[in-house]
Amino acid sequence: MPSISKKGLSMPESPIRKLVPFAEAAAKKGKKIYQLNIGQPDIKTPDVAMQAVKDNSIEVLSYSHSAGFASYREKLAKYYERNDIHVSAEEIIVTTGGSEALLFAMGTITDPGDEVIIPEPFYANYNGFATSSGVTIVPIESSIENNFALPPISEFEKLITESTKAILLCNPGNPTGYLYTKEEVQQIADLALKHDLFVVADEVYREFTYDGVKHNSIMSIPELANNAIMVDSVSKRFSMCGARIGCLVSKNKEVITTAMKFAQARLSPPTLAQIASEAALDTPQEYFEEVNEEYTLRRNILVEGLEKIEGVNVAKPKGAFYCIAELPIESADDFAQWLLEDFEYEGETVMVAPAAGFYSTPNTGLNQVRIAYVLKRENLERALQILEVAIKEYTSK
Ligand SMILES: Cc1ncc(COP(=O)(O)O)c(C=O)c1O
Repeated sequence: MPSISKKGLSMPESPIRKLVPFAEAAAKKGKKIYQLNIGQPDIKTPDVAMQAVKDNSIEVLSYSHSAGFASYREKLAKYYERNDIHVSAEEIIVTTGGSEALLFAMGTITDPGDEVIIPEPFYANYNGFATSSGVTIVPIESSIENNFALPPISEFEKLITESTKAILLCNPGNPTGYLYTKEEVQQIADLALKHDLFVVADEVYREFTYDGVKHNSIMSIPELANNAIMVDSVSKRFSMCGARIGCLVSKNKEVITTAMKFAQARLSPPTLAQIASEAALDTPQEYFEEVNEEYTLRRNILVEGLEKIEGVNVAKPKGAFYCIAELPIESADDFAQWLLEDFEYEGETVMVAPAAGFYSTPNTGLNQVRIAYVLKRENLERALQILEVAIKEYTSK
């Protein structure tokens, strides 16, 4: 039989999805599962977006421009303007999800063997994108003790080698929920300028910030214009994960020209989903206010509930809709599987994502889980109740 590529064999499995077979088996047995493991919001997609697709009378579902509809990019530029990000339509390439923007960014700025420094824990799929591009991720550990704040810049500097091409920041962070301060973003910008590095900023959770704290975009630092690449997405902003629309944004012309070649190779982003995404930009401001209020309440329920469970330590998120919790156990992998296979409380259980998959340093975060607060408040309260019983039972085994 012909052999599979080394690259293919080294592609990491998604740590979030590897528990799925156990969840399916549990569901088959009739167990109800509260899914705290994935970032699929239950929030309704804005009506304007759905309506735009329904109202359409397209007769030929054709390709679009490789960079995406010009009308959509114009409107996106206006949206960014309102968010203190000054870019033109020509500085935006519409992609098939933020995922493709990340792949294009890696393809545009790295060669095999290059290194990208990323604070860990980080969004696990960065591993897959790095493997696809032959890039080595150099992790820098942030810690639950200080809510996963930016590690000291001196620690970043120690990791910079001849092969370093970029620093990747996820802001607000998945899985940490950490929202970088203006000073932290500026520190990263200064470091990138000093060492002539790119900064790739994954800002897909920009709107999800709590406690009145504002998001600080890497794109709002004028001196960094040639070094900054922003990755964005409609997936979470408008609860449109299935649309598969994102974008790559940069003021660096060479970055855009090069990324466009990747964009041309895959022809175009999805046409119907661009119609929905363009219309979604007309979503009334109240939608975001309501959604943020809902997530704030959910976050408070989750953090307060977790803090009440003996032995649990939780980092309070200021953004996105995830948190990392340290549990009084040794292996979150084993615990997460046990929750699905061997445990139930009144016919119900919970599904969590073991956090080790969000670290690339081996044997780190073994007793941590990532919890997504994407469930309705009453379900979140119930899930916390079940988790408390489960931890008691598991630790007294
Ligand atoms: C931090 C982060 N970046 C990028 C993505 C990819 O999003 P999409 O490809 O759905 O736009 C996700 C999805 O969960 C994410 O959490």
